[in-house]
Amino acid sequence: MSTTTTPTSYSQVQFTFGLWTVGWAAQDPFGRATRPALDPVESVHRLAELGASGVTFHDDDLVPFGADAADRDAVVARFRAALEETGMTVPMVTTDTFSHPVFKDGALTSNDRGVRRLALRKILRQVELGAELGARTFVMWGGREGMEYDGAKDHRAALDRFAEGLDTVAGYIKERGYGMRIALEPKPNEPRGDILLPTVGHALGFISMLEHGDIVGLNPEVGHEQMAGLNFTAGLAQALWQGKLFHLDLNGQHGPKFDQDLVFGHGDLLSAFFTVDLLENGFPSGGPRYEGPRHFDYKPSRTEDLEGVWASAAANMESYTLLAERARAFRADPEVQEAMQASGIVELATPTLDEGESAASLLEGGGDLGTQIAEESERLAERGYGHVRLNQLALRHVLGAA
Ligand code: GCO
Ligand code: MN
Ligand code: MN
Repeated sequence: MSTTTTPTSYSQVQFTFGLWTVGWAAQDPFGRATRPALDPVESVHRLAELGASGVTFHDDDLVPFGADAADRDAVVARFRAALEETGMTVPMVTTDTFSHPVFKDGALTSNDRGVRRLALRKILRQVELGAELGARTFVMWGGREGMEYDGAKDHRAALDRFAEGLDTVAGYIKERGYGMRIALEPKPNEPRGDILLPTVGHALGFISMLEHGDIVGLNPEVGHEQMAGLNFTAGLAQALWQGKLFHLDLNGQHGPKFDQDLVFGHGDLLSAFFTVDLLENGFPSGGPRYEGPRHFDYKPSRTEDLEGVWASAAANMESYTLLAERARAFRADPEVQEAMQASGIVELATPTLDEGESAASLLEGGGDLGTQIAEESERLAERGYGHVRLNQLALRHVLGAA
């Protein structure tokens, strides 16, 4: 069994990090920063050395809020030079529509029309920079799009405005021919008491109501689904099945509590294993695959110094790489294949009706339907599925005991 900790072994998949992840100075609602701010250019270099292939950022992560055009150009030029020097890419960008007090009641869904118009301009400005840098995905996390009190929003109007805002941005992207797609990032709460589009499922439903929904998909985050008590891998799978998995945020979380943003694999490890299994091996029956970057949206814990920051960044890639090795071995293991067969996982890919069969023909066949259903139920209920055995095999592979 090999361990994979060297940068070169990460090179098969593209690992990307938000500048705001390693760059987090570790201020929280209860205490000041424990680390100095990082220069984005240094982050680009350090992440490249660790084996990452790209970075992502909010407008304000790179260009300080309020910078004038000349300062902005200088910052962007310096950043571009770092990208060229390291070969790092910017596959995704996003906008900060949550930090400034103006966004306290939301951005695209603020009750104040002036705020909504301002938010759109801030977002569109970042679309421009993203296009310039070659980003293929524009993430929209509606951090402040929500409320603390049920009576604080007209939900119909809020969803209308959310849709209007997204369609405006998506329409602009199309009009300009930027070839970018928008990825919505659901989160149930924090910083708002409740956030609109709280889960993958809500977001998928919402997209079907958009005019330009064809270029709007999802950026699911491990911790966000788990904060809602949901199964992240299942959410990921449905987004993939619907052709809507445009990007993802990997990190670690221990169940429903505040957004922990732990290193990937440091939360629910078996869930992380099955996430990587899906990403690396796809569905057992084939079908759509996720080909985009493996993007980490975590926070180096507040206890860590700068050395710890870089160690934690490397830990994300190592967790993923180790789990990818285990997932490959898991699928290749003949005992696992046999257990999957016995579990009916393979059988599930067979259509339930034969060709030419219909609901009406299913009911035919003579005899008393009630008696038939009762008899068949008894027979079919005999079967055991062996899901526990399969899960134990997974656990053995994760622990390196298989
Ligand atoms: C959070 C979110 C953010 C977003 C980011 C990109 O809980 O704070 O996960 O980190 O991913 O703003 O839009
Ligand atoms: Mn988060
Ligand atoms: Mn995120």
